Order: sequence, then structure tokens, then C-alpha cells
Amino acid sequence: MTMFRALTVDRDGDVFTREIREWTFNDLPEGELLIKVSHSGLNYKDGLAGRPDGKIVNKYPFIPGIDLAGTVVSSQADGFREGDAVLVTGYGLGVSHFGGLSQYARVPAAWAVPLPAGLTPVEAMAYGTAGLTAALCVARLEAAGLTPERGPVLVTGAGGGVGSLAVALLARRGYTVAAGTGKAAARDWLRQLGAAEILGRGDYAPQGTPPALARQRWAGVVDPVGGATLAHALAATQYGGAVAACGMAGGMELPATVYPFILRGVSLLGVDSVFCPHPERISIWNKLAGDWKPDNLQLIYQEISLEEVPQAMDSILAGNVQGRLVVKI
Ligand SMILES: NC(=O)c1ccc[n+]([C@@H]2O[C@H](COP(=O)([O-])OP(=O)(O)OC[C@H]3O[C@@H](n4cnc5c(N)ncnc54)[C@H](OP(=O)(O)O)[C@@H]3O)[C@@H](O)[C@H]2O)c1
Repeated sequence: MTMFRALTVDRDGDVFTREIREWTFNDLPEGELLIKVSHSGLNYKDGLAGRPDGKIVNKYPFIPGIDLAGTVVSSQADGFREGDAVLVTGYGLGVSHFGGLSQYARVPAAWAVPLPAGLTPVEAMAYGTAGLTAALCVARLEAAGLTPERGPVLVTGAGGGVGSLAVALLARRGYTVAAGTGKAAARDWLRQLGAAEILGRGDYAPQGTPPALARQRWAGVVDPVGGATLAHALAATQYGGAVAACGMAGGMELPATVYPFILRGVSLLGVDSVFCPHPERISIWNKLAGDWKPDNLQLIYQEISLEEVPQAMDSILAGNVQGRLVVKI
């Protein structure tokens, strides 16, 4: 029987463990595609899956990992054949269905995206869920009327995965990007990614209750932080501008008023990558592989091994990871 290795989270009473364990194909959940995983990535949600109180995993033992790229080993679905390169993000992967931090995964064919020409598996995981989300934010803002001529775009949490990719994608598309970060050490790197201006948290989200309205600074905002940061962003968005909200790294509450909406016509756009409809998902991945692809994508990620994942799970929740972590399986 073929054995393979996977990062496994488990709970026995009060004892919670994160370790590499051996599994067999028979242990994998149902699905039409058996995939040999070459790379995964680490997201904030994976960090939560690595904690007993993370509220992501509800059955143990479990293999986390919401992203994977690899090669089809066997297929029982039309449209995919042995040897096809694929990527999977979201749906139930790494949440209700064994995930990508594993040498093998079995998934429903409906979740798989053919790896687009123009992307290597490593690059696909450098983007991962974070890149899909950042690109969905940009696409939603543009559908709401954002153009480079409308003015500067703020990216909050710019030192993290979604944020750094949003900076690079917006710069690539010709926007003037203000990168908001709490990481002093990330400033030069964010300029290399294309940010025109770097703001500290005290500037774009100062301590204290956010004002109902503030000076109109941003034509658009990409916000993976949420909480008071999102409220500040709404208050400082220009007349007719839009804010794409996609995360809660800084909190779930939204201490804002309706003033930006009713006095300035500001739009608040919710962005979800997990159940993003498949045709839109494929269209966005094709953009990410094509003319949206930043020239400097290699600056955004570093590779880590499966053994390094448990520590990295803690780092990402502490907000200490700069850019993206690609896990080489
Ligand atoms: N909607 C979706 O489909 C979707 C998809 C992917 C991710 N998300 C969500 O988006 C968020 C970011 O995910 P990620 O993978 O990019 O995580 P990440 O790499 O950890 O980035 C989050 C960044 O937010 C900033 N941050 C963290 N805590 C903060 C605080 N208390 N106040 C202000 N800023 C803070 C930090 O950036 P600086 O140090 O630069 O300030 C941090 O690097 C998470 O909430 C995640 O669940 C949602």
C-alpha cells in the first residue's frame, strides 16, 4: 500500500498536535482527481487551522492546506487526464476536506483549475488564495469604475500575502499605490513591488475611534485588515470611490457610520475567493498568468519545507510573515 506524508493536526482531549504523519490513499476523501502535490502555500486561514481554537477545522485528525498545485495521477472526470498540471484553492480544501499540505490529495474535479500557460506550479502557489483574492479585489474595484486616473489606491496590510500581491498587481496595472504597513522592515521591499508611497499604521489607521468622514484621499482601497482599519479607509475614500473588503487580520467589527455611503457615494465591495464561481475563477487565473503578472513576482515569496510549516503557522497569525510562503512538498 502506498504511504505518503502530510502535515496533520490532531486533538486528543486537551492535547493538540501538529506533526508530519504517514497516510495511505484509502485515507483520502472522495473526489474524481488524485493529485500528486508539488507545492502548497501558507495563508492566514492555514495558521488558524494550526490552532485548537482556530475554528477552521472541526474533525480530527485533519490535513490542512487551502492551496495546492500538482499533477493529476488519476482522473475519473471528463476534462482532466493523468499528467495534467492543476491548481486548487478554496471550496472545502483544507477546511472540511483534506488539504494541500500533503504529498497527495484527492479532490472533486469541479474544484480544479488547469494550470494556465504562463504560470509554474511555484508561481501559482506564490499567488495561491492570497493572489486570487487580491486579483478579485482589483477586478471588483475596476468593475466599480476605478481607473488609474481617478487617483491613488490604498492597500492596507501591505506587508502580508493579500496586501503585497495587491500592491504588485495594482502597480502592474498602472495605479499609484499607497502601501499601508506596520512592518518598518518592509518599506524598501514594498517600493520594489511598485508602491509609490509607504504609510505606517498611525497614518492610514490611527489609534482611537475612526471618524465618520475624513479628508478624501483614496480613489480605491484594498483592505485585508478589517476592523478600525476598514472604517478609516471608508472615511478617507473619495467621492464615488470604492473599498474592497476581503479580510479580518485586524478585527471583525466595523466601527463605521453610513456617512461615506450616503454623503460621498462610496461603495463597499465584499470579496470572497473561497466560493468564487468557477468561470470567474478561471478568468482571474488567466489574468494572473498573463498581462496582470508582475515582473517581480519572485520578490513576493520564499519557499519553506513541510517541516517548517508549524512554526510558520504561528508567525502568520502574529502578522510576522512578509509576503507569501510557498511550501515545497
Ligand atoms: N475573502 C477571502 O476570500 C480571503 C482570502 C484570503 C485571505 N483572506 C483574509 O485576508 C486577511 C489577510 O490574509 P493573508 O493571507 O494576506 O494574511 P497575512 O499574510 O498574515 O497578512 C495580513 C497582514 O495584515 C496586517 N495586520 C495583521 N494584524 C493587524 C492588525 N491588528 N492591525 C492592522 N494590520 C494588521 C499585517 O500587515 P502589515 O504588517 O503590513 O501591516 C499582516 O501581514 C485574513 O483575514 C484572511 O483570512 C480572505
